[in-house]
Amino acid sequence: MVTLDEIASLCKRRGFVYPTSEIYGGLMSSYDYGPLGAELLRNIKNAWWKTFVQDRSDMVGIDSQILLHPQTWVASGHVGSFSDPLVEDTVTHKRYRADHLIEAWQKDHPEANVAVEDLTIDQMAEFMRVHKVESPDGNPISAPKQFNLLFETKLGVVEGEKALLYLRGETAQGIFTNFKNIVNSNRVTLPFGVGQIGKSFRNEITTGQFIFRTLELEQGEIEYFFDPETTPWEELFNSWKDSMWKFVTTVMGIDETHIRWRKHTDKERSHYSKDTYDLDYLFSFGWKELWGIAYRTDYDLTQQAKHSGADLSYVDSATGRKFIPHVIEPAVGINRLFLMAMTEAYVKEEKRIVLKLAPKIAPYKVAVFPLVANKPELADKAREIYTELKTHFSVAWDDRGNIGKRYLSQDEIGTPWCVTVDYATLEDGSVTVRDRDTTKQERIKVADLTAYFQQKLV
Ligand code: GAP
Repeated sequence: MVTLDEIASLCKRRGFVYPTSEIYGGLMSSYDYGPLGAELLRNIKNAWWKTFVQDRSDMVGIDSQILLHPQTWVASGHVGSFSDPLVEDTVTHKRYRADHLIEAWQKDHPEANVAVEDLTIDQMAEFMRVHKVESPDGNPISAPKQFNLLFETKLGVVEGEKALLYLRGETAQGIFTNFKNIVNSNRVTLPFGVGQIGKSFRNEITTGQFIFRTLELEQGEIEYFFDPETTPWEELFNSWKDSMWKFVTTVMGIDETHIRWRKHTDKERSHYSKDTYDLDYLFSFGWKELWGIAYRTDYDLTQQAKHSGADLSYVDSATGRKFIPHVIEPAVGINRLFLMAMTEAYVKEEKRIVLKLAPKIAPYKVAVFPLVANKPELADKAREIYTELKTHFSVAWDDRGNIGKRYLSQDEIGTPWCVTVDYATLEDGSVTVRDRDTTKQERIKVADLTAYFQQKLV
């Protein structure tokens, strides 16, 4: 299996992902997306938005602010309890998550068989004391304490009079605080959902898993509102689970054996959630959460109504009944979808590295080459084809080096098809189309090329 280092190395070398602020030595758990990464990220976001917002008649989308009124985060419970158990290496002062150190300890002591996710912070402290769990550098560690993940910032200019604000810890609350606006300004009736893609920020303790866990992340969240008296929540919950599974396997092209459902235990689940599942992916460092789905009941709307004084209830136009809708929330990190796509696609063959990305999300769909660069008649024809295809798809151009190297270069960035213009093109109007995965080549008429690729991308 591909390692995280191999993925990170390809990402850097080919312009998918760079360490943030690298010229200053980087910034922990922070990454920038390069030209190809920006394309892949955008394609994933577009596919998510199309599938879950545009293609459905029961969904609308919004785009709320990163900075919300600070009371939002008091109401949601983030100020009080959005935290992780922090421990510190008493020698190096490096910080770790206590649950992660216990998980790592367990790998060497499988007989211990403890469900880390069920441990309270006091139980973690006791476990680490009894089993003498050390830091990865082999030093003693401090007792765990709760560490709030919300990033704080200040509004205003006069020092001492600045108001405390938070960078949002999830996009979800911008949906709840707009619930009334959405109902009043759109023809939506229950059940309906609201989708949003945007940046969230978390002061994460653990670092070192590339883009899996970052300080700044992009989320794709859905709040699906319904009346619990008329819509059975289990049916809705299962249908959303099916939609998530289908997106990962069909749109993202992931093998079904690489994903699994994991139900949260009663102790692990948030107090307001009636049921929570993680859709896990088999990353190169093991099964990890890709996407979560939770039945959050009426907790969030009730909390926001209580703290703001606003009436966030819904009136059923048929019966006149007034109530606070319940909500099911599928929430995914777009950057984790990206890492999953790279992990799944990365294939080491004898003579090449090939990224077998699903064509719909690949940064370039097609690359066009003249067989040789220094023959104007070939280069001109190839440019003509490139320009035409570019009006329909994202298309790469390459005329450097020999044709074999150009194929290998496109394989490594996941371009599904390469078009080569050769001398036969000038005679019979056909080009060679080479398939990334099979490396098979076929002759296609230039006039048929657009339709050929369009049909492949359906
Ligand atoms: N509104 C619910 C919520 O935010 P979450 O499980 O904390 O739930 C949802 O986050 C998803 O966001 C996760 O399943 C994961 O894909 C992604 N995510 C969470 N923290 C992340 C981080 N620090 N870096 C990258 N992705 C993250």
